[in-house]
Amino acid sequence: MNETKITLPESAIPERWYNIQADMPNRPQPVLHPGTGEPVGPDDLAPLFPMELILQEVSQEAEVPIPDAVRDIYRLWRPTPLYRARRLEEAISTRSRIFYKYEGVSPAGSHKPNTAVAQAYYNKQEGRSRIATETGAGQWGSALALATQLFGLECKVYMVRVSYEQKPYRRSMMETWGAEVVPSPSEDTQSGRAILEQAPDSPGSLGIAISEAVEDAAGREDTAYSLGSVLNHVLMHQTVIGQEALAQMELAGAFPDLVAGCVGGGSNFAGLAFPFLREKIAGRDVEVLACEPAACPTLTRGPFAYDFGDTGQLTPLVPMHTLGHDFVPPGIHAGGLRYHGMAPLVSQLVLDGLVRAEAYGQTDVFASAVRFARAEGIIPAPEAAHAVHGVEQAAARADEEGRERTILFNLSGHGHFDLGAYDAYLQGGLEDFALPEDEIERALKAIEPLPKPAGVTS
Ligand SMILES: Cc1ncc(COP(=O)(O)O)c(C=O)c1O
Repeated sequence: MNETKITLPESAIPERWYNIQADMPNRPQPVLHPGTGEPVGPDDLAPLFPMELILQEVSQEAEVPIPDAVRDIYRLWRPTPLYRARRLEEAISTRSRIFYKYEGVSPAGSHKPNTAVAQAYYNKQEGRSRIATETGAGQWGSALALATQLFGLECKVYMVRVSYEQKPYRRSMMETWGAEVVPSPSEDTQSGRAILEQAPDSPGSLGIAISEAVEDAAGREDTAYSLGSVLNHVLMHQTVIGQEALAQMELAGAFPDLVAGCVGGGSNFAGLAFPFLREKIAGRDVEVLACEPAACPTLTRGPFAYDFGDTGQLTPLVPMHTLGHDFVPPGIHAGGLRYHGMAPLVSQLVLDGLVRAEAYGQTDVFASAVRFARAEGIIPAPEAAHAVHGVEQAAARADEEGRERTILFNLSGHGHFDLGAYDAYLQGGLEDFALPEDEIERALKAIEPLPKPAGVTS
């Protein structure tokens, strides 16, 4: 097939989400209650999440039906297109074939609405009227603002301060969809006030913003908490991406030998990769690559350990690759990748050798983003540009080795609200942050007293 853009009809929107827990060689270890060290049960989570999502979190079923009301909203932008990146291939003179799945066509501009719509739906079903959440780059907050608006719920967003300042129009977008937005750390919660007392100029981090949103939700009957990544059910909701991509690659008459995505908490990566990992576990040959920032190198430099999901230590202990819950990543422009932890599912798959990770500096990433924009037209979100860079490098290596590979990656969002970052890059004002080993060691001290996952001794 010679098409540039491979599309599917609305009837091809998947009817089920794929749950990789059913097929993994080793399931993730349990999430623990920090007080007792015992696995958390549904009752511990009920104040924060609707029961259906709690059940999805621990489900071992390979497939979970997508409610009609959710599929109906998916129709607004799904199925998303799959592109053959011929112009990029030419621009970088590679012999490999490069495909990308483009999630930036959603109203919020990224993959995030795939789970936001599902989460808003289950909250509405179970009688909640308000949702509190955090947002890094503003993409998740926008997605949840949109989804809550579509289901008639209220939404409060704690937005990491550095992004709040870098991207005022993301806030306007969330407010247009009816959400209330505050910069985090904020004066609205105890966790926020405690940070501001010690560090009045704190740039904020996802870990801090999560503490604020959890505290908000835990303190109000009418309010649930919603997380845009990391949790099993969130990753599962994103698998519509990979299921569509499998069908589109088949239409293109190809199967990838490399699948790549950027990783913040792991959801867009999982969304594309998990349906292909299902094939890999069943015996097909495909390499899977997670692309992360060198300034927040959770998978490449963080140990696999139990850690809190947030800075304020309000969440359960999660088995994951982590840089420590009080690690505050430098203010790189890929705000959505500034998270100290990683999804337990992705962490376990890295541990088991099914997924490999690489880390890149932001000036190299922006060079790739600009090259991509000039060749393909689409201006990538800085997060997604990490995948573009990873793919360019993989293609260059293949060329050196005289191989022709078929590469597929997730272009998880557009960068229309990130032009300040492009501006900084084009003016030569973008910095690379070398992360010293002693800063990682310092932050990891905080998790030394916590329980260790099975099989980890130090
Ligand atoms: C466009 C985009 N890609 C990727 C991410 C990273 O999140 P995740 O790893 O959950 O996909 C974000 C987070 O905000 C994002 O906005």
